[in-house]
Amino acid sequence: MTSRLALIQLAVTASKEANLVNARAKVIEAAEKGAGIVVLPECFNSPYGTSFFPKYAEPLENGPSSIALSNMARDAKVYLIGGSFPEIGPNSKFFNTCTIWGPNGDRLGVHRKVHLFDIDIPGKQTFKESSVLSAGSEITTFDSPIGKIGVGICYDIRFPEMAMIAARKGCIAMIYPGAFNMTTGPLHWELLQRARAIDNQMYVAACSPARDETAGYVAWGHSSVVDPMGQVVAKLGEKEDIVYADLDVAFVETSRANIPVSVQRRFDVYPDVSK
Ligand SMILES: *[C@@H]1O[C@H](CO)[C@@H](O)[C@H](O)[C@H]1NC(C)=O
Repeated sequence: MTSRLALIQLAVTASKEANLVNARAKVIEAAEKGAGIVVLPECFNSPYGTSFFPKYAEPLENGPSSIALSNMARDAKVYLIGGSFPEIGPNSKFFNTCTIWGPNGDRLGVHRKVHLFDIDIPGKQTFKESSVLSAGSEITTFDSPIGKIGVGICYDIRFPEMAMIAARKGCIAMIYPGAFNMTTGPLHWELLQRARAIDNQMYVAACSPARDETAGYVAWGHSSVVDPMGQVVAKLGEKEDIVYADLDVAFVETSRANIPVSVQRRFDVYPDVSK
């Protein structure tokens, strides 16, 4: 069983409306090229930065982005992992939230970024998501036609436990909308995807916004797909574009059968993080 995955490396602007219109056109284009599962980047409808979150935030139910995403998924007849947008949630708390939609427009899942990106190097770089955002506390998976898929956001990829738990719960892929920067991008973006892929013998995909040199936060781009053997099977540069890869469940199974780490674990020596 296979399904074609499309990652949309969207050029995000300061106009939410323009971003929603552009996202829709790209989702439809991906569907026309045969994609069954389509992914948008982290903060696909707003610039990325703590100062922007409250301004762009919207509720999960009946907000403009949720309505637009539901319509895109339904009109394109695809499974849509709707990147993320700043959500104003219960008790007026803000979250960095990914919504997942099915081909009939129903919402299949919600992932609120679990690991917030806090970094403070005195005199250099300060970026504290937690000054504005609250963290989610769930591991998110949904059922696609080719099996269970797990979803994390950006910094979540650095925590192997999340992907490992998803894999042990039966996921054949992890998908991360994310925006690494110009330092951590070249160093870690691909390496982390390959690491999570071979740790768990699953597909790993990460979808970034296109690079905008004039933005406050400059994203690395390079949206890519890694297969269960750790090979990069699709990769973009820094510009707006769509990249495709066929996810093949049989290849997940052969990879796991050929190198049987999943049945050779020693839970008598170390704990099973999925329990
Ligand atoms: C990117 O983020 C890292 C921390 O994850 C930080 O050390 C670095 O200075 C940042 N680089 C740029 C170009 O902003």
